[in-house]
Amino acid sequence: MSKTLVFTEFGGPETQQLIDREVPVPEASQVVIEVKAAGVNPADWKIRAGQMGDHWKLPAPMGREASGIVTAVGSDVEDFAVGDEVLGLAAKGHGTFAEHTVLNGKQTVAKPEELSFANAAALPVAGGTAYDVTHQIELEIGQTMVILGAGGGVGLMAAQIGKVHQFNVIGVASASKQELVEATGATFVESGDGAADRVRGVASDGADLLIDLVGGQPLRDIASVAKDPSVIISTADPATAEELGGAGVERTNEGLEKITGVAEYGLVDPNVVQRFSLDEVQQAIAVVEEGHAAGKVIIEP
Ligand SMILES: NC(=O)c1ccc[n+]([C@@H]2O[C@H](COP(=O)([O-])OP(=O)(O)OC[C@H]3O[C@@H](n4cnc5c(N)ncnc54)[C@H](OP(=O)(O)O)[C@@H]3O)[C@@H](O)[C@H]2O)c1
Repeated sequence: MSKTLVFTEFGGPETQQLIDREVPVPEASQVVIEVKAAGVNPADWKIRAGQMGDHWKLPAPMGREASGIVTAVGSDVEDFAVGDEVLGLAAKGHGTFAEHTVLNGKQTVAKPEELSFANAAALPVAGGTAYDVTHQIELEIGQTMVILGAGGGVGLMAAQIGKVHQFNVIGVASASKQELVEATGATFVESGDGAADRVRGVASDGADLLIDLVGGQPLRDIASVAKDPSVIISTADPATAEELGGAGVERTNEGLEKITGVAEYGLVDPNVVQRFSLDEVQQAIAVVEEGHAAGKVIIEP
């Protein structure tokens, strides 16, 4: 049997339950793993709250990303074998807050030896998104990338990617995250009222790329720092970004391979800052749901 977190109906945290399930069997293109670590993301609670549609079959397993050891592969899987260490995204209908889970073979990559399971588990969602959002508009050395929400899971990795490319990176976050943001090499600007003026104070020409990881009013308040509205790219609130003249992030499978490569060479640290056991998974989700997580929160079953 495999302990798995599910939510039983769309709603609040009280609908989450740890249950015992049979160890899953892979379909042709899938990979089953013993989970070593799983990353917690805002999408986990947003799906549970019904904010991302109501097409999930209930009870719905929770958790989108994980690293672990392959215990079974589907008949069409050629790249992985039992015993391999991998990281990837959960297959449809499966969740990673579990002792065993099923990954989509096409969204799974080998875990480099240099990467711990904990760091690897933070890459498929947050790392892949950080890669995609920093590459949707290609900047040149010295151009300015402003990140709203720079102290969270996606933001810290996006800032590090920007520094690898020698962009002028400005990270907007709350004062408690100043040290974390500055450790990426980015210039820190405090979020909240007046943030747009503070950004202009350190980058008078404005942003060549404005990455939004927060959405809503904070995005509206800072949008004017973009040199052109079309350079606003949002992971958090594509609707507001589009209304302002920008776009939502376009996710790619390439992003996972690329971010795994840069993390392997130590160029990006996923900043795992809090670890919980599977029995504590509800606390871990609550930390992310509160909306002010610093770096990545992971589960280690
Ligand atoms: N489309 C996709 O494929 C995709 C993939 C991954 C993530 N996302 C979305 O991208 C967003 C960021 O994800 P994440 O994993 O980085 O989340 P996270 O780790 O929870 O970080 C979010 C950050 O937003 C900041 N924040 C919250 N309220 C703010 C405000 N009013 N003003 C300024 N900053 C504020 C928080 O920092 P402070 O405490 O400093 O305020 C926090 O560090 C989420 O909405 C997530 O759902 C989308």
